[in-house]
Amino acid sequence: MRPTQASFPATRLRRLRSKPGLRAMVRENALSPADFIWPIFVMAGKDTETPVPSMPGVVRRTVDRVADAARQAHALGIPAMCIFPYTSMANRTEDCAEAWNPDNLSNQAIRAIKEAVPDMMVMTDIALDPYNINGHDGFVENGQIVNDRTVEALVKMAIAQADSGADILGPSDMMDGRISAIREALESHKHQDVTILSYTAKYASAFYGPFRDAVGASAALSGDKNTYQMDPANSDEALRLVERDLREGADMVMVKPGMPYLDICRRVKDSFGVPTFAYQVSGEYAMLQAAAQNGWLNGDQVMLESLLAFKRAGCDGVLTYFAPRAAEILNG
Ligand code: PBG
Repeated sequence: MRPTQASFPATRLRRLRSKPGLRAMVRENALSPADFIWPIFVMAGKDTETPVPSMPGVVRRTVDRVADAARQAHALGIPAMCIFPYTSMANRTEDCAEAWNPDNLSNQAIRAIKEAVPDMMVMTDIALDPYNINGHDGFVENGQIVNDRTVEALVKMAIAQADSGADILGPSDMMDGRISAIREALESHKHQDVTILSYTAKYASAFYGPFRDAVGASAALSGDKNTYQMDPANSDEALRLVERDLREGADMVMVKPGMPYLDICRRVKDSFGVPTFAYQVSGEYAMLQAAAQNGWLNGDQVMLESLLAFKRAGCDGVLTYFAPRAAEILNG
């Protein structure tokens, strides 16, 4: 129950909004560069960047430019970066072997960041889609995305990433049993301090469209991901998934997409009180940028407002393509 409040005019709720100092005193949430995980796209080649057309302001960069990005992020106070590879078509196969190649683009990028900025926390993505000829996160057999054989591959991928120096593994595939399989393998490979930030409540969302352009998966994807990613209509199911992932050894959990799923963030935080992250995905970024570029919204203001909303919804942090720009503004 809320404490009773006096009636008007003894209570005037505008009083505490009347001066900037009073507003600052009673402000409930704050945003800081330490709240951000910055997702970046890497590609093969040398000393180049190419823009991602459906994500204005976002580029794919060659591995040799990743170190610069890490130094920039570190200077801005961003504690973590997350790597996504643009894999060449030649390296996309039915057996997805490139996924656990110690020298694949992701693993090269992990080493490049850790070498340039050892304190930068490097997060990875664990799923087969960048390496799969048909764009799915798991192996496809007779038109079905198979679970258990996929988990074995995800474990190999996880160990290759941990061996390369990753601090945070991000299984994004939504297969069942992957967290315990990965956790067990980490323990037996002397990687007991490698953390898992599970993409726990990952919805089958159309907001991933621009990302699939960025990693070259749009054309590759046959069918949809509805048999493994969550139904956007569901909420209780997200709590079952969080409970399951925590029992299997996840250190942190994620809700994805972000802005349309703030209700899920709040339920997860209230129910479990564990480190909870949201992913403000490519489509969320694209729609804000598109409106800003048309002069329909103030880009910086909606960016900060959208990011603060994650804190208000109970998140400890957010994966966002806005990370460097938002950090720059927050640092004044
Ligand atoms: C791949 C993966 C996706 C995203 C992160 N990891 C796409 C998908 O599941 O199809 C989406 C990120 C974004 O849209 O910004 N498993």
